[in-house]
Amino acid sequence: MTVPLDLHSREFQEDPAPTLAWLRDHDPVHRSHYGYWLLTRYDDVAAAFRDPRLSSEWSKKGSLPGMPARTAPDATDPFTRAQQVVLHSFNMKDPPAHTRIRQLVQQAFTRAAVDEQRPRITQLVDELLDAGLAAGSLDVVTELAFPLTITIASEMLGIPSDARDEFRASFEATERLGDPTATTEQRMVGREALVWQLAFIADVVEQRRRQPQADLVTALVQAEEHGETLTNDEILAALLTLYTAGGTTTERMVSSGILLLLQHPEQLALLRAQPELLGSAVTEILRFHHPNQQTSTARLALEPIELRGKVIEAGHTVRLGTGAANRDPERWPEPDHFVITRPELVSLSFGQGIHYCIGAPLARLQTQIAIGRLLERCATLRLAGEVRHDPRRMDRYERIQVIVSEQ
Ligand code: HEM
Repeated sequence: MTVPLDLHSREFQEDPAPTLAWLRDHDPVHRSHYGYWLLTRYDDVAAAFRDPRLSSEWSKKGSLPGMPARTAPDATDPFTRAQQVVLHSFNMKDPPAHTRIRQLVQQAFTRAAVDEQRPRITQLVDELLDAGLAAGSLDVVTELAFPLTITIASEMLGIPSDARDEFRASFEATERLGDPTATTEQRMVGREALVWQLAFIADVVEQRRRQPQADLVTALVQAEEHGETLTNDEILAALLTLYTAGGTTTERMVSSGILLLLQHPEQLALLRAQPELLGSAVTEILRFHHPNQQTSTARLALEPIELRGKVIEAGHTVRLGTGAANRDPERWPEPDHFVITRPELVSLSFGQGIHYCIGAPLARLQTQIAIGRLLERCATLRLAGEVRHDPRRMDRYERIQVIVSEQ
């Protein structure tokens, strides 16, 4: 079997599962020709999430032996300044800074706090479905998943949702900043988008300093004012991370979950017949969701790490292939089958350890309500025409048009 080992090639993007399966079997600690390492076995990825030798704090790279020393950033360049702010995000920190900031943010995302959102999420889903049912069709991406998840993220954080379309475009642009195949022009657009995002959020923070409200922006500002536990940059970075995560990942999960059910009519019929399976259906969607998630989570090796006969040198980047690990046959029988009745086994979709996804309860709740209400209210539900996705990323859906009706 020949395997396309360029993990950014179109061929790989279109069907990553065979390549990832080959890597899992033959080269589970793979050094890509872009220089980073990719782990694909469940046990290795799970252990890597919990390994303190693998850091989330990229700013430590310059101080590692053998790494080029960091040059002082140009403080006059808006993009460099924005990049510096982003490095203060708690997902890019190790303890103790990570622990200090996460504790403050966590309060807004406890299971109980998220459960309070249940009526609002249900109301919003119902309004979006009302519009779809009146029209007889619905684009699951732009008329259900996106408006739902961005509105809830906006309301919980306190970021006005009137710029949500600009944010959506800017999320896509900034994602390209971490893509080694991006063109110079795409990088420029990504740079401008990041500067714009931070300026927007900085404005909101300033407004809340003047006029406090019942939202997370205000809670973080007040924590800073009272205990000096957070700097302004840490607040901006935390809010940007939360808004980006809240506005992109769950949208993709809701969209791909509905698509997966439509592509597996027997599973859809089973879920309709046994709605109590909704929780395990969402767990399976999280596991099965397009396997091309290998680029999402990365770590910096702080010291040499020996794994399966290879040595990952200090300063190297390690990508945690959650999508590949989620289909490891050692963990799940017939992993390439979408089966909503699997006994619950924890997938790695939300990570593990200290950086475990803070939005996991919210993401699960939104996905459950969106799919649950869609099935309850739409006796007819079928794909209308082709599914459109980002030509570069098959897991980024742009349009999933469905025919819906109450009968
Ligand atoms: C289905 C949707 C989602 C998926 C698949 C997902 C996935 C993940 C993963 C894999 C991590 C671990 C990253 C790492 O270890 O470096 C993570 C962390 C995180 N997620 Fe999510 N996420 C989702 C939804 C959300 C939502 C809705 C929010 C917030 C509104 C959110 C906020 C965060 C934050 C802030 C972190 C960093 C936590 C830390 O470093 O302590 N996520 N997420």
